[in-house]
Amino acid sequence: MKITVKSAEEIELMRHAGKILAMVHQELAKVIKPGMSTLDIDRLGEEMIRSYGCEPSFKNYCGYPASICVSVNEEVVHGIPTDKRIIKEGDIVSLDAGVIYKKYHSDAARTIGVGEISKEAELLIERTRQSFFEGMKMAVAGRHLHDISRAIGDYAESFGYGVVRDLCGHGIGSHLHEEPEIPNFRQWKRGPRLCPGMTLAVEPMINIGTPDVLWMDDEWTVITEDRSLSAHYENTILITEGKPEILSLTEEEKAAGYLDLF
Ligand code: MF3
Ligand code: CO
Repeated sequence: MKITVKSAEEIELMRHAGKILAMVHQELAKVIKPGMSTLDIDRLGEEMIRSYGCEPSFKNYCGYPASICVSVNEEVVHGIPTDKRIIKEGDIVSLDAGVIYKKYHSDAARTIGVGEISKEAELLIERTRQSFFEGMKMAVAGRHLHDISRAIGDYAESFGYGVVRDLCGHGIGSHLHEEPEIPNFRQWKRGPRLCPGMTLAVEPMINIGTPDVLWMDDEWTVITEDRSLSAHYENTILITEGKPEILSLTEEEKAAGYLDLF
């Protein structure tokens, strides 16, 4: 399958899907509290997505049983929500969600600190987010895909962090996962040339320790091999001639000046 370039109409639908997902993330970040279960978060998230007239794209995707991937501390991604896992003060919780609006997808993730968190956790979250924006500096038509990969990886590794290698970002559109795969670290080849109208889900997953990860027995939850903390930051973006348009940025992030981070 080739990398698709979206039409103006398709881009409008994806903008809407991104905006709804941003609202969901902004609200979930506010409601998450110690004592809640990861299933509570999934239920609230699914309700919000549907109340905005969208569908949760992860639900039943390849058999995934929930709408929001909730991954706590050493869990990297694809944590399965359960009423047994209770969020506590000091945890870092990665929320990954996707929505579909009129057949078009958006995909975004945030890692949230619950109450007071350690300095090292706070720095990991902040630098994982900035690694995404370092990638955005390269996400311009005429550059190549792996310029994004290198910018993300080099920035994260400059702090001694482990950049997860076994999972990648991806193209997105009328499918959750489209071409191309987007690694978060240096590649041998420069990759395809970026063109206006390409839509990508860029998603660095960064560990305090080793980049190596393991799959749990549930066949979904990915954890760090050394059990060190992991953070995730993902947005759906649109390549343009100039700065990329970040379709799933929240209003609060815009107000906080995130558009100046790249
Ligand atoms: N953002 C993730 C991805 O792109 C989550 C999808 S996995 C799912 O792979 F199965 F839960 F949908
Ligand atoms: Co994704």
